[in-house]
Amino acid sequence: MSNDNARKKAVLAYSGGLDTSVCIKWLIEEKNLDVIALVGDVGQKRQSLDFIKQKALDTGAIDAVVVDMREEFAVEYLSKALAANALYENKYPLVSALSRPIIVKHLVRVAEESGATYIAHGCTGKGNDQVRFEVGVRSLNPDMLHIAPLREWDLTTRDSEIEWAEAHNIPVPVSKDSPYSIDDNMWGRAIECGVLEDPWIEPPSDVYELTVDPDKAPDAPTYLTVGFEAGLPVSVDGVQMSFQEVLSCLNKVAGSNGCGRIDMIENRLVGVKSREVYECPGALTLIKAHRELEDLVLERDLLRYKARLEQDWAIYVYEGKWFSPLKEALDAFIATTQQVVTGEVRLKFFKGSIIVAGRKSPYSLYDHALATYGAEDSFDRNSAKGFLDIYGLYLETWARQQRKL
Ligand code: ARG
Repeated sequence: MSNDNARKKAVLAYSGGLDTSVCIKWLIEEKNLDVIALVGDVGQKRQSLDFIKQKALDTGAIDAVVVDMREEFAVEYLSKALAANALYENKYPLVSALSRPIIVKHLVRVAEESGATYIAHGCTGKGNDQVRFEVGVRSLNPDMLHIAPLREWDLTTRDSEIEWAEAHNIPVPVSKDSPYSIDDNMWGRAIECGVLEDPWIEPPSDVYELTVDPDKAPDAPTYLTVGFEAGLPVSVDGVQMSFQEVLSCLNKVAGSNGCGRIDMIENRLVGVKSREVYECPGALTLIKAHRELEDLVLERDLLRYKARLEQDWAIYVYEGKWFSPLKEALDAFIATTQQVVTGEVRLKFFKGSIIVAGRKSPYSLYDHALATYGAEDSFDRNSAKGFLDIYGLYLETWARQQRKL
């Protein structure tokens, strides 16, 4: 027993999959550590949590901690991403980038509570996720040490990894030849590897799970109204719902109409361009509806300024800087803009398109009397003349000078 107490501990972010199961054994055998597996539920498709927990223990973990992070993920993370209309490189709603910081937060908490020396993750040395884990941990507890087994060991191919797993009595899933690497949570799914590594090849239909092919979507459109209060989604077709419930409803409706697929070339932080396929029906719908409502209620300069900060927000979060003073300051700015983002957006889903069909708000800045070309027009055209004389003056001055030259 006293011998056991002398062993140092590592808290490992554990998914139940092959990679992180191999990590458990490797940390025990190669690094002589006690392993505590942390399993976070962020709404991913998964085996039962009891099953995953038991698998961690069977593989040799001294403890397996299961944390239901779904509510916290929606309220503290996704709501901020939505307020920021966050789309990295104007396309990717940051599915994986958003789940890493919440997992990091709980890894650090469990490590501190259990007196662990190390935090371990199953990311490779080539992606963004290693950055998010390690920079995230250092931002929360600079004294915590890291181990990244997949970056250190020489089991570089899937086959050698499976061989190692079998030799160490780690159950290998039957679908061991699944060609894709998948990460998912309630904000969507990310699919990489296999045939997708050729950017010219159209993703085969078996990569998708949340969306039907737009060709096979229903021939009639589906309409639906999302209600927002202070920037947060609160209802669908008048029925009050939590953020999670709205999201899951939109995932189904948009997905079944073939909406939410993304196929892009993405700039990873580590300098590599990669071909990424995502499906995010609910997230893309919410961002579209939320942005539309902001167009209606936010004053022009604020709207334009916010749009610039949104780009920055997405880059910082993508690059692992969730726990940073700048990101917090941006959140604070964005939060001040959300008070008036209350109202309803009517959406039409049709064969892969999410179309805004209507919007309204008690805070609407749309003034019909100012906008109309009809009889009720209250816009003062006579003032336009004087305004334009001054407005264009500097260009006129420039043009006169040009003509002289
Ligand atoms: N490229 C995306 C990102 O960096 C997704 C990464 C997903 N990870 C995976 N194992 N498929 O956020």
